[in-house]
Amino acid sequence: MSRERWSTGLGFILASIGSAVGIGNIWRFPYIVGTNGGGAFLIPYLISVFLFGLPLMMLELAVGRHLQTSVGPAFRAIGQRFFFAGIVLVVIVSLILSYYLVVSSWVLAYSLFFALQRPVDFDAFTGSYYPLVFFLLSGLIVFATVRSGVREGIERISRVVIPLLLLILLLLVVFSLAQPGAAEGVAFYLTPDFSLLGDPLVWAAAFGQAFFSLSVGMGILLTYGSYLERANLFRNATIIAVSDIAIAILAGLMIFPLVFAFNVDPAAGVNLAFVTLPSVFLSMQFGSVLGTLFFAMLFLAALTSAVSMLEVPVATVIDSYGYPRKRATLLVFGVIVLLGLPSALSYTGLRLELFGTPLFDLSDYVFGTLGLIFSGLIVSIVAGWFVDPEWLFAELGGTPRLQRAYLLLVRYCIPVVLFITLVARILGIPAG
Ligand code: PHE
Repeated sequence: MSRERWSTGLGFILASIGSAVGIGNIWRFPYIVGTNGGGAFLIPYLISVFLFGLPLMMLELAVGRHLQTSVGPAFRAIGQRFFFAGIVLVVIVSLILSYYLVVSSWVLAYSLFFALQRPVDFDAFTGSYYPLVFFLLSGLIVFATVRSGVREGIERISRVVIPLLLLILLLLVVFSLAQPGAAEGVAFYLTPDFSLLGDPLVWAAAFGQAFFSLSVGMGILLTYGSYLERANLFRNATIIAVSDIAIAILAGLMIFPLVFAFNVDPAAGVNLAFVTLPSVFLSMQFGSVLGTLFFAMLFLAALTSAVSMLEVPVATVIDSYGYPRKRATLLVFGVIVLLGLPSALSYTGLRLELFGTPLFDLSDYVFGTLGLIFSGLIVSIVAGWFVDPEWLFAELGGTPRLQRAYLLLVRYCIPVVLFITLVARILGIPAG
């Protein structure tokens, strides 16, 4: 059977933007900027993206494009002894997906609640068994997309989702900026505090956010690259990275004016999206429309990211065992649902906890934070050190001097930075 292909280069770019743009852009980025030096944070962030994220993206794309196969078989092609590392990568992505689907299901639920004008209390919601229903529902949408294939599923959905997401985001930005007091929010968000640039934690936050947001180092771009016939990888990777940054910056322009106009706490994480912002929407005119749009946009962003994660294990099963796509998707999806159930149920009456931490929070830390950095380390070491530079540069182009600098980056700088970030996280130094 011949390999599946993107129908056009644009289709590939939109699918990759879909993978990169996720919950991380819309609610994580604005908060991290606001608490790490405002506009000044863009300096370490842009450096992280272009110096570390982009070269790793290009590495993954080049390996996938050249070897024309997905993570497991690609790692085996690089060296028989790396097959196990490939499997570790596939397992990490599957585990991240299992809990990412839980967050996706919450935003899906909230968009419906707002549409039906039936606001709910977040604790009451997560304590009930509704999240299980939405977990299965959002999982099924992701499943159906991947099951339909690269062109008919992933590419088709990305062509609709990305423009729609951008449209909703722009609408919300305009609306937010029109609120009285919006300027104060923008000032908090973007006024640079350069004194923070000396703080290593700010840099660590930038690296972490850049890797998470670009979906790099997880074999996703390797897999997506394997469906490309020929492409300018440098240009494509740059377009994907720039779009990802642009959407993240826009998201901040939507969130901070609202937070300031309504005088609420711009606090971190889960509470911002599920408690603070819903309360703001509820107190506004047209609040239910805005709430519906906001959560629908988050769901669209999460959907294409989840699709890209599911494609990694599915493609490995197809390419390694010759399974037809439909059967491979069913098999992998079944496993992921089982893996995700403990996270999905962790706040219910069952109180699934380990060492006093709900399993959802634990998954977020172990898989979403440590696992992600660890998998980036695997990719940069295996692909950076053991791939023949000759064919790598045949894929990437560039002058000899650029190529030398590139090797230096992917072989030394990126693994070292990732390693330091991993150790810092394990020691519990908060970064972001
Ligand atoms: N990049 C996605 C986001 O910003 C998250 C993600 C991480 C997706 C890793 C896939 C893999 O939310």
